[in-house]
Amino acid sequence: HCAARLKIKRVGTFVHSTQQTALQVQEDALLGVDTEGKIAFIGEGKKLEALSQVFQFSPSEVTQLTEHEFLMPGLVDTHIHACQYSYAGTALDLPLLQWLNTYTFPVESRFKDLEFARRVYTHVVKRTLTNGTTTACYFASIHTDATLLLGQIANDFGQRALVGKVCMDRNDSVKHYRESIQESHDETCRWVSYPLAKPVVTPRFALSCSRELLEQLGKIAKNNNLHIQSHISENKEEIQLVKELFPESESYTDVYHKYNLLTDKTVMAHGCHLSDKELAVFKETGASLSHCPNSNFSLCSGVLNVRNVLKHKVKLGLGTDVAGGYSSSMLDAVRRTLDASKILTIQDPKHETLSFEEVFRLATLGGSQALSLDDQTGNFEVGKDFDALRVNVAAPGGPIDLIHSEGPKVGIQTLIVVHFMFAFLNWSLTGDDRNIVEVFVAGKKVVPFTEPKAE
Ligand code: GUN
Ligand code: ZN
Repeated sequence: HCAARLKIKRVGTFVHSTQQTALQVQEDALLGVDTEGKIAFIGEGKKLEALSQVFQFSPSEVTQLTEHEFLMPGLVDTHIHACQYSYAGTALDLPLLQWLNTYTFPVESRFKDLEFARRVYTHVVKRTLTNGTTTACYFASIHTDATLLLGQIANDFGQRALVGKVCMDRNDSVKHYRESIQESHDETCRWVSYPLAKPVVTPRFALSCSRELLEQLGKIAKNNNLHIQSHISENKEEIQLVKELFPESESYTDVYHKYNLLTDKTVMAHGCHLSDKELAVFKETGASLSHCPNSNFSLCSGVLNVRNVLKHKVKLGLGTDVAGGYSSSMLDAVRRTLDASKILTIQDPKHETLSFEEVFRLATLGGSQALSLDDQTGNFEVGKDFDALRVNVAAPGGPIDLIHSEGPKVGIQTLIVVHFMFAFLNWSLTGDDRNIVEVFVAGKKVVPFTEPKAE
């Protein structure tokens, strides 16, 4: 093997997912990251001496996590509208189509102003990184310059991202917020690839695109081997209008399939009302779904049956869908995903509720698979990039801290060492960014922010 110098060495409790195990806890695990930011080895702490000789480092260089800490893979947000961050949590009193016309399109049209875009995009990248989102799949507005700026900001702050200029040549409500087919095509072709931030072809959804535009976008993606993202089958009124606008297509899924927009690099948000037949097309094409429960509840869109999607072996990740969803935290997406699954069990006791472990996997490895980035990120495997969170459940304000300080007198060490799952579940359900003390992307520490950035 190659004895490249190691830049990060950590020993302690690690938790992550594998294909076989939804949640694997490794106590006294030892990991090394090479100068390229890739995981060079994962072993046992008790084999430190031997590993230090093989990988040529001094055992004293290894950082020991405290008994209150653990390492987990970074969270993957498979669907977030960066340009909607500016009004997240302010306007959720209308269903999808009315919500788009009344609030969303007017706000997005402001991103023509690059300074406004810079302010909002800097905030959203910093906020999501602080929340532990190491990979984000972003929708931007129709404005290419602002979209490229978002890619640059994500890349500069060290966030892995897919960034899409939204395409829409149909919009009857806010007429200045749309493009011609030619503009949409030409502007999409101005994509730029940064080391961490890659382009994604982004037809907004079938209702905002003509057949010609969908066809051209399918061709651009194919010719350049690009990712694709859009929305599908989110709300019943939307589905009805798609039927009326595309009567030649058998289903909503068929509209995208027809224009080569379903590939193994496609992620479609929502899919609340997809039929089993449509899910079979997702499986066949390798396209994935992004489950955004906060948004689905907030806009009263529907409740996706994730269990059924998984039974169809369709790839699925979780998304915040800011600002249809009001939270930019993937921990919120985890909690709402559990809620959505429990609602289905209340409605039908035969429904098999998702376990916490399964949902954790969806938020990490599942998300990386949904974005076809699982060769680079999603869990701790040798050769993958080191995208990780160091979580301290005893950080000020942390949930365990309260248990610890106010009693009953259960020692924190007992909680973590003997009942790690108790502490981990508790943090996942009640903790927040205050407990995420470090965030790494591709082996680089990106939180706390190192370079002061002008805003
Ligand atoms: N469908 C088309 N555009 C949007 C959007 O901005 N948000 C959501 N949630 N659904 C959409
Ligand atoms: Zn969305």
